[in-house]
Amino acid sequence: MDKFLIQGGKALNGKVEISGAKNSALPCLAAALLTAETVTLHNVPYVKDLITQRRLLEDLGATVLTPELRTHKITAKNIETFQAPYELVKTMRASVLALGPLLARFGQARVSLPGGCAIGTRPIDLHLKAFEKLGATVELESGDVVARAPNGRLVGTDIEFEKVTVTGTENVMMAASLADGKTVIKNAACEPEIEDLAELMNRMGARIKGAGTDTLEIEGVEALGAAEHTIIPDRIETGTFIVAAAITGGEIEIARCNPDHLRAVIEKLGEAGVDIEELNPSTLSVKRSAGGLKAKDVITEPHPLFPTDMQAQYMALMTQAEGDSVIKETIFENRFMHASELIRMGANIAISGNEATVHGKTQLAGARILASDLRASASLVLAALCADGETMIDRVYHIDRGYESIVRKLRSLGANIERITESTASSADAG
Ligand code: UD1
Repeated sequence: MDKFLIQGGKALNGKVEISGAKNSALPCLAAALLTAETVTLHNVPYVKDLITQRRLLEDLGATVLTPELRTHKITAKNIETFQAPYELVKTMRASVLALGPLLARFGQARVSLPGGCAIGTRPIDLHLKAFEKLGATVELESGDVVARAPNGRLVGTDIEFEKVTVTGTENVMMAASLADGKTVIKNAACEPEIEDLAELMNRMGARIKGAGTDTLEIEGVEALGAAEHTIIPDRIETGTFIVAAAITGGEIEIARCNPDHLRAVIEKLGEAGVDIEELNPSTLSVKRSAGGLKAKDVITEPHPLFPTDMQAQYMALMTQAEGDSVIKETIFENRFMHASELIRMGANIAISGNEATVHGKTQLAGARILASDLRASASLVLAALCADGETMIDRVYHIDRGYESIVRKLRSLGANIERITESTASSADAG
């Protein structure tokens, strides 16, 4: 298993370019299953989860060509099976996004119950209930979810999600796009990734209105066709580099981002003493303000409020702010696993239920630590960048799932970070 070795204490300076959004590319790849024609996607990030999603499509029988590293041309003409295998689903929860398109187009789908990040129990009951409302039968057979549309087609209906769910909204939007009649989804997720998927699908011929609001109207169509689409920039990667500038006391220009997609993060970090200037609509210039970092409370909530995927990075930053900050996690249970590792580095954090209180500021010191999930890994990298001495982070395969070229990007900003691969790691361990 790869590790990162980081010598902390260097201010990061320079320019970084943001990659395409993982959480948008994943459903957009799945949407290609809705048509026999070719869907071309640009700006697909080169990260592990997208390699897994591509393999899933290929396993189902789709052809995926990559004329350029970040361009995928997907043709799901000869689909041979309607089953997403356990080996893939267990490594990536987003594989459940195959369910909606397969069910809509072929009237059947079989997907193992998902794995993914270890951030609490993450059921897909809301997806399944919505499929049932669209007329599908859903059964559990040997750990697999098996969904079937009687007569081969789903039927449009009104759906109200009990809880906002991002992939649930995406899955149901895809399922409803080929249903007979109209579907209205209430309490839909409003994340920019939903809008991006709807934009792609409308280019494919779908009739979706309201994406980006909490009510979606989908007029089912007979068939979808070819389309070309560019994936939006990754707002969480953008937020992570904003924190990297602030936590190390450097100045970073963040290019090819979309600040409109992370207004709540920009606002909160501004209150916490981070100067964020918009040089143009896709470029930010970020540095710590002269007054230093201040402790500010935060609550994670669905978009457009503060995203849970920035909670861990924010906690790392708060260890460097003067005063106490309370971080409340309302989306996922058990999403504070990074806290115990930050404490091992010298942070003063108390956890009570879904609230973490960070008492700052504490000087962090390098340590041997473990990454537990994707965003926790980012938090630990940020902490290590401002710590005294050397930090070794184990299990960085989590970060490879969602951050493109993280080592290269950080090194180009002056960070002292290196990847220790399996063979070198064992000799380093022995030493
Ligand atoms: C997506 C993102 C993830 C992000 C999360 C919340 C992708 C690939 N992943 O995950 O990075 O952290 O949104 O912004 O886009 N829930 C249920 N039943 C369901 C579905 C969800 O109870 O059927 C619960 C979850 O356990 C969680 C909450 O609803 O407590 C929100 O989950 P959801 O929005 O579905 O997250 P994901 O789509 O899995």
